[in-house]
Amino acid sequence: MLFRSALTTTAFITLAHAYVWPNPQLDELEAIRFDQVGFNLLSTQLSTFVTPCTLFVFDTVAGGTTSGRSDAADWIRTVGFYLRRNLQRLIFWQAYHDMATYNSTDQTGGLDASIRFAEEQARAENVGNGFANTANVVFAPVDRYVSMADSIALAAIIAIENCGGPEIAFRGGRLDAGEANAPGVPQPQQSLDSHIAAFARQGFTQTEMIGLVACGHTFGGVQHAFFPTIVPALNDPNDTMDVTHFDSTYVTFDNNIAVEYIAGTTQDPLVAGANDTTNSDKRIFGSDGNQTMASFANSAELFASTCADLYARMLDTVPAGVVLSDVITPLSVKPNIVDLVLDGDTIQLSGAVRLWNMTEDSSRTVIMVWTDHAGSTSTSALTFAGVSSSTGGKYSAAWYWFNPTNPFGVLSLDAIAGVTSMSFVVDGTVEDQGGVGFALQDAFMMSQTSCSSGAPLTGRIDVAVRNGVNPTRVYLESITRDSVQRVVVTEIDLTPPTNPVVVNSAYVLWSMNLTDQSMEFNLGAEIDGVKYSTTRVLSFLEFPECSD
Ligand SMILES: *[C@@H]1O[C@H](CO)[C@@H](O)[C@H](O)[C@H]1NC(C)=O
Ligand SMILES: *[C@@H]1O[C@H](CO)[C@@H](O)[C@H](O)[C@H]1NC(C)=O
Ligand SMILES: *[C@@H]1O[C@H](CO)[C@@H](O)[C@H](O)[C@H]1NC(C)=O
Ligand SMILES: *[C@@H]1O[C@H](CO)[C@@H](O)[C@H](O)[C@H]1NC(C)=O
Ligand SMILES: *[C@@H]1O[C@H](CO)[C@@H](O)[C@H](O)[C@H]1NC(C)=O
Ligand SMILES: *[C@@H]1O[C@H](CO)[C@@H](O)[C@H](O)[C@H]1NC(C)=O
Repeated sequence: MLFRSALTTTAFITLAHAYVWPNPQLDELEAIRFDQVGFNLLSTQLSTFVTPCTLFVFDTVAGGTTSGRSDAADWIRTVGFYLRRNLQRLIFWQAYHDMATYNSTDQTGGLDASIRFAEEQARAENVGNGFANTANVVFAPVDRYVSMADSIALAAIIAIENCGGPEIAFRGGRLDAGEANAPGVPQPQQSLDSHIAAFARQGFTQTEMIGLVACGHTFGGVQHAFFPTIVPALNDPNDTMDVTHFDSTYVTFDNNIAVEYIAGTTQDPLVAGANDTTNSDKRIFGSDGNQTMASFANSAELFASTCADLYARMLDTVPAGVVLSDVITPLSVKPNIVDLVLDGDTIQLSGAVRLWNMTEDSSRTVIMVWTDHAGSTSTSALTFAGVSSSTGGKYSAAWYWFNPTNPFGVLSLDAIAGVTSMSFVVDGTVEDQGGVGFALQDAFMMSQTSCSSGAPLTGRIDVAVRNGVNPTRVYLESITRDSVQRVVVTEIDLTPPTNPVVVNSAYVLWSMNLTDQSMEFNLGAEIDGVKYSTTRVLSFLEFPECSD
């Protein structure tokens, strides 16, 4: 199903349709989308691979370099540049090449990370994109809630926005294909009719085809090594990878692709190439008598808003059966990495809260208020932790630890009283998600008594279960990848204890012995027909040694 975005760049920043916290998947996607640089409790930070922009070259093939930079040679040798080079290849073209298999008639193909399969990468239509090399970087597990296809979309959005592009509406929930899709990426030597037909199959009109090609070709160029008949060897010490760029400002988003085309000064190798057979941009751009390109040349704003819409539609082109979320907008107040651990008579509550669209302000007061099972409230004044930013510094957010003194933000609560929800008071204003509060579940959690011992090492996981809750099941959610790298979550039940170990008057322990040291897991429980998961991913190697 193809979801069309009606959102413009200005509508996008409103917070009206934000979801209610907690929602593990949306929390995670929102964090990757909006916590890009600086303080960030998640270490995923796709954006660290895609800045600065001057290291982007969105070529249709392997990464070119801005080798006029004196440090370019050094960068090439560093892992950082390796990541960037590979990610930048992915940025637009990986997303487009992945999407381009979409067939709107039977709603197959689309953005589903099928480009990771060797079968697709080996096709002539995907020549030289270096997709294989990107696999370990781009398709590395972000985590169980972020599919590889969502990562491709997020990387594209973050890269475009950070290089002067418009804000792009992001929806999450793409699923990863289990096998290669049918071919479907247009190639430069093909006819205009075949290009119109290919874009129509993908769900785009002829006018939208012109737009999408122009929006894609505001970045990068074509590299000689992979298209020797389109781009000659340049023998330019400043362009050692022999990339002929689509426009003169190939690392930034702007309408120069259209301005230079209309002015007749373009160097776009698919317009001005010596061999007219492969001048596909020339045929596409001119296919409506230059009307669309002229409108882009005349208005940078129109170009940007058109691209924002087309990029979003491209990324939201997904196979039938995939249901994408609403557009994810930043939560104005968002707890992050919230975790509860039972430690004897206390619950250790850790985490931080992010205040969107705020910077450091030493006079600001942030108070956390939490409610226990008896309905009583307690408070704690929070300390400033840091600032994060996104979209090239356009947005910033201030973070506060849950505990004023503990550097890891851990707050000790009375375990017997427990905790049901929190809210925050920021400079006297209550922030409680419009009255619903920020729900916390203390029905089950890790117990500090979990430990490991022996050789080979065995882990004993103790899950603290609150009396009166009567969970139907308590289990580990083991997180692995299948043979084609898709996340698989396997539930491994803990046997309800016949004589439970009593920790205090509120909690007993359910235990399990673990031998798989590589296993990563969350805790899960089913309570009154509802499944809950903890957010923190564990491995028993983190457990302290058992003390007999
Ligand atoms: C798209 O799907 C339809 C229906 O299955 C099929 O008839 C058509 O050949 C497909 N188009 C392409 C280009 O594969
Ligand atoms: C390469 O770049 C440097 C620095 O920008 C410039 O001085 C030089 O003229 C360029 N060389 C060529 C061949 O364009
Ligand atoms: C032009 O490009 C086409 C397609 O790649 C190729 O078949 C043809 O030989 C080229 N013509 C010349 C003169 O190089
Ligand atoms: C479109 O613009 C290009 C570049 O200026 C020009 O060469 C071409 O003739 C124009 N096409 C039409 C139909 O006006
Ligand atoms: C950010 O906060 C300022 C006030 O500090 C406000 O004027 C502005 O509208 C806010 N922007 C957004 C996008 O919420
Ligand atoms: C874990 O292993 C220990 C030592 O073998 C054993 O005493 C204990 O009963 C086991 N616990 C569970 C829950 O299986």
